[in-house]
Amino acid sequence: MNRFLVLVLGLLAVSAARKRYEPNWESLDKRPLPDWYDKQKIGIFIHWGVFSVPSFSSEWFWNCWNSGRKSCVDFIKNNYRPDWTYADFARDFTAEFYNATEWAKLFEDAGAHYIVFVSKHHEGFCNWPSKYSFNWNSMAVGPKRDLVGELADAVRKHTKMHFGVYHSMFEWYNPLYEQDKANGFRTRDFVTTKTLPELYELVNKYKPDVIWSDGEWQASSEYWKSPEFIAWLYNDSPVRDTVVVNDRWGNETRCKHGGFWDCSDAYDPGKLQGHKWENNFPLDKSAWGYRRTMNLDSIHSIESVLTLLARTISCGGNFLVNVGPTKSGKIIPIFEERLRQFGSWMKVNGEAVYETFPWKHQNDSLNKDAWYVARKMDQQTNVYVFILKWPANGKLILGSLSYTSRMSISMLGYKGSKTFSWTRNPTGGVAVNMPALSPTEIPCKWAWVLKLSNIEDDKFGGIKRISNE
Ligand SMILES: *[C@@H]1O[C@H](CO)[C@@H](O)[C@H](O)[C@H]1NC(C)=O
Ligand SMILES: *[C@@H]1O[C@H](CO)[C@@H](O)[C@H](O)[C@H]1NC(C)=O
Ligand SMILES: *[C@@H]1O[C@H](CO)[C@@H](O)[C@H](O)[C@H]1NC(C)=O
Repeated sequence: MNRFLVLVLGLLAVSAARKRYEPNWESLDKRPLPDWYDKQKIGIFIHWGVFSVPSFSSEWFWNCWNSGRKSCVDFIKNNYRPDWTYADFARDFTAEFYNATEWAKLFEDAGAHYIVFVSKHHEGFCNWPSKYSFNWNSMAVGPKRDLVGELADAVRKHTKMHFGVYHSMFEWYNPLYEQDKANGFRTRDFVTTKTLPELYELVNKYKPDVIWSDGEWQASSEYWKSPEFIAWLYNDSPVRDTVVVNDRWGNETRCKHGGFWDCSDAYDPGKLQGHKWENNFPLDKSAWGYRRTMNLDSIHSIESVLTLLARTISCGGNFLVNVGPTKSGKIIPIFEERLRQFGSWMKVNGEAVYETFPWKHQNDSLNKDAWYVARKMDQQTNVYVFILKWPANGKLILGSLSYTSRMSISMLGYKGSKTFSWTRNPTGGVAVNMPALSPTEIPCKWAWVLKLSNIEDDKFGGIKRISNE
């Protein structure tokens, strides 16, 4: 056969092997989630926009003010001139200290393997020079920079993380959207001239591996033409082999359709889920965008973050931690500290997070501070127990573990010679005697992970790595 024919036949074989997805949920939901997403587990979410300028109330500030909520109305009345408009905030979105390389390195140091950057929130301001936004974008006003592009480049140049974007389908006060809405969503002028062109532009220009959609809830996925967009994404887009999407694509899709499921914000079901999901949560419990009125007690402690991590990973979720930078582009020290604490913990215990999968038990039946995951390593499967409180009397009860004298127990990060012993627990399971480690011998602070090998119950439940079929 001549070379040309071989090439043509080869291409035919490849395209025949590649399954094409139809623009409907039944077909799209059959696509296996690309492997990397479940394996990499940890992401950083970044909410940045014009809302970072008032930095009051939350990233919903414009809506809060416009709908007449007293706190927001008073804030404007007391601090701005009488004819102030939301658009006036944009010029103060200065971003003068925005250093995308610094951010990218911080996020990777925090143990993240992907990021999700807000490209446009409900206010409609594009953090990139979109062809479909003439004066309400970061190149036209405010930073005068391509915020998305700078971060995409920095992530690719300086880290191994996957780059992803958040994108809001609706815009609170876009006249075209309001018109479609007034027409009962039987017209689609907003979708065809704004939402979709923007999404195609984002994908073609920045090649994100995550499209984290939001702002979908007022209209159906049919109005948004989401199935058409996702079919293109999976079949023909430049990221068709690597891209993952969430489940916010229309008022009927959450927790039902799409790639991984976010369900509600900060979704934290506490039990094993049948479909790959993600817990997206803000370090500031009250807002995703930066708030100048934040107090320390609204910020998750590192112990709280690690508790959420254990519960999320055990139940098959990914962990997406949100920070809101200031208008100048700084990630304030309290967020930086939390991310670096988390990263230092992950350096010791990452073996029990990345590439793990749920075990047959998630939480322990007797010990509310113990959560389990499993991982295949060195030809065997190990079970890892997250210990969220060091047992006061040195005896760790693990009620969900069957007793066997053959297993081995170690603590991640501990290289010393002190060993673990264990006995049958009278009320069921195993009682582990923790070695008496001095403060300098303890491998990490806040929470610890025990690695169990050769255990009896080496069966796993739940989610396979590719989980949405
Ligand atoms: C941005 O941050 C990086 C890494 O910290 C540093 O090397 C670089 O000089 C910074 N760039 C600017 C313009 O300050
Ligand atoms: C979803 O949105 C459509 C408009 O696109 C509307 O007709 C329908 O009633 C909405 N469904 C729900 C459950 O809100
Ligand atoms: C933990 O496990 C027990 C059963 O062993 C269950 O009743 C409980 O609801 C579980 N979940 C949490 C979050 O503790």
